Amino acid sequence: MLNIIPYPKFAKEKSGAFSIDDNQGFKSDFDLPLVEEYFSASDNANIVFIKDPAISKEGYKLTVDEGEINIFSSGKTGAYYAFQTLKQLIDGKKIPCCEIEDEPYFSWRGINIDESRHFFGKEQIKKVLDYMLFEKLNVLHWHLTDDHGWRIEIKKYPLLTEIGSKREYTHIGGWKSFKKENKPHCGFYTQQEIKEIIAYAKERGIRIVPEIDFPAHSISAMAAYPYLSCFEEEQEVIGYFSWDYPKFRSLDFRANKTLCLGKKEVYDFVFSVLDEVCALFESEYIHIGGDEAPHSEWKRCEKCQKVIRENNLKDETELQGYFENKVFAFLKEKGKIPIGWNEIASAENLKSKECGAVIQYWTRNRDINAENYVNSGGKMILSNHQCFYFDMPYARYPLSNTYCYNPADYGVNSENLSNVLGVEGEFWSEWISDKKKLEMQMFPRIQALSEVGWLPAEKRDLKDFIQRWEAQKPMFEKLGINYAKDEIAFASNKHRAKILYKFTHGNPYLEVELNDKIKEQRR
Ligand code: ACM
Ligand code: ZN
Repeated sequence: MLNIIPYPKFAKEKSGAFSIDDNQGFKSDFDLPLVEEYFSASDNANIVFIKDPAISKEGYKLTVDEGEINIFSSGKTGAYYAFQTLKQLIDGKKIPCCEIEDEPYFSWRGINIDESRHFFGKEQIKKVLDYMLFEKLNVLHWHLTDDHGWRIEIKKYPLLTEIGSKREYTHIGGWKSFKKENKPHCGFYTQQEIKEIIAYAKERGIRIVPEIDFPAHSISAMAAYPYLSCFEEEQEVIGYFSWDYPKFRSLDFRANKTLCLGKKEVYDFVFSVLDEVCALFESEYIHIGGDEAPHSEWKRCEKCQKVIRENNLKDETELQGYFENKVFAFLKEKGKIPIGWNEIASAENLKSKECGAVIQYWTRNRDINAENYVNSGGKMILSNHQCFYFDMPYARYPLSNTYCYNPADYGVNSENLSNVLGVEGEFWSEWISDKKKLEMQMFPRIQALSEVGWLPAEKRDLKDFIQRWEAQKPMFEKLGINYAKDEIAFASNKHRAKILYKFTHGNPYLEVELNDKIKEQRR
């Protein structure tokens, strides 16, 4: 078996092996700086990258013979993907002879990194982009704003980062704990830094899709500019991550605040922010959030109620629909395609399909509106909680949930699969504060995600995947990348209940600690 993840569409092993020289060279029809980090460019090299315009954008053909390696692709991304395959095949100084013809099943194979709850910074994001290329993932959905920190410079509104990127304390001990650590947390990206990261991603065939989450999840913006809220109270950038548990609700703690949808200045703000975001990001897709918007402020706000009355809206759900329609129209003018979380599909007045909006299906509970959307021609990204919420402990969602994902189980009719752009794993960072945990939540989950994006359900085989992952572990050990041991990844019963309880009541890092212990015992 060839130990490749994601497994190629077609692969045939042959006898013999190619031997890598001490001064191994390559020649290429493309400029491939990432290959130059391994081999040197040379005109008479026996590893050859050849342009073949007939091959799909991310596809490639690879033949490894004893005397030479030939790689065909239509562009750089296919060439780099073939190179990842080669890197995975290297065994010492040998590469087994084989023939591979490969291309992905879904065009959207993404992960979402939330940097609002915890800011990781440029160097860590570049590492993530390197990992993504290795797994042939091609979209970084970048959650740059939320209640807990605004992480992107907006030149027209400097207070967003001056005030909105800093909080004084951070919730610790899990969603149901009341504890906090009184230590400031801050950080943001300048537009210049974002350009640098976009270029780094682009070289790796990765599109960066920014998310600016409106009209809820915007408290950091309201802390900077209180006029954005219905009642204009002073507001801190909050550090508590809970808001829907009774004991938090009883506090005078309004993490459920929303932008006021009854004021012209709020629409001006939203469009001005999006204007800068659209200019900065090359991606034609822009994520505008739209999730978990509570109605309580809108119900009490005279200005919001006036919009409802004057526009004959049924209720606050339609008020959000009215807002999203304006955002969709604005983005359409800019030549951009909006993406929103599946809650926005519930407003009947929403003009999503007319605007070509993409719905991202995330909720744990089935959402008939989202399912109707994809089954009637709307575009969709699949991130169903049970399979793709990679911030959750493995004890809750074992690796098999991800690997065995089938869109049919979430209401996507087989004849409408072509409306699915692809799949995406979510790294919400309330309880991921450091690299060590980020890596453990990633590996081997993003490998499983990658294979779900690369092969249809009927072509995947969990046992086979586990064997290929086993063969790749020594490389992860060598590179010092933290990954979940099998007992953790497959949620053996030994610690499962305790991990689950502690995740919300005391120690969201218990699973990492147990993983470390298993590693220590193996040494
Ligand atoms: C979400 O997890 N609120 C999209
Ligand atoms: Zn209002």
